[in-house]
Amino acid sequence: MANKHKIGVFDSGIGGLSVVKAIQNELPDLEIVYKDDKKHVPYGLRDVNEIHGFVRPIFQEFVDEGCQAIVIACNTVTTNLITELRHEFKLPMVGLEPAVRAAAVMTKSKTIAVCATPRTLASKRYKWLKQEFTKGMVVLEPDCSDWAMMIENDSVERDKVAKITNQAIKQGADVIVLGCTHYHWIEEIIKDIAKGRAKIIQPEKPVIEQLKRVLGRLA
Ligand code: DGL
Repeated sequence: MANKHKIGVFDSGIGGLSVVKAIQNELPDLEIVYKDDKKHVPYGLRDVNEIHGFVRPIFQEFVDEGCQAIVIACNTVTTNLITELRHEFKLPMVGLEPAVRAAAVMTKSKTIAVCATPRTLASKRYKWLKQEFTKGMVVLEPDCSDWAMMIENDSVERDKVAKITNQAIKQGADVIVLGCTHYHWIEEIIKDIAKGRAKIIQPEKPVIEQLKRVLGRLA
């Protein structure tokens, strides 16, 4: 079955490890090779071409090490580069991107907040998701530009997170999208702050379902 396969999981830093944890819960026998790029984290403040140059050799390592698929556990890389990477590396890729569509379905106030890196928010793919699925809605994009490093360095300031979360809720958001895998590590904090006022969503579950389908198609 699917569980005997070997896959690569990538993120710039520790964000993707939260995704590894979720995958392991669902597919405990799957062999996972995890790679990050601590030297260049955070990606979210960098230029797309620069990021492309960083990830290319890392993805080649996944191929050389016999990975049969790659999970891009980095919204910044997925939203900006998955198409190019799929062309360059001929193995299946599953990417995480902000769950805009799911949020649009869930919201009653017709206002959602997307927490993501500046590079994700500036991507064509994210803009397309917004245009396609949030017509007539308000999409808030709070400034979370320093969250990835705050989490990477294990120096989470609850007050800072609370301020941004409360502001978004005050502006009407009843669904908050975690559009960066680093933020998965503070999901419980955000849920606690938003309790009874807004729902917090991130794409791990559908991504794992997609990964199962991809593995099912492999020999
Ligand atoms: N974890 C990455 C993401 O999902 C971003 C962190 C970074 O800025 O490097 O977008």
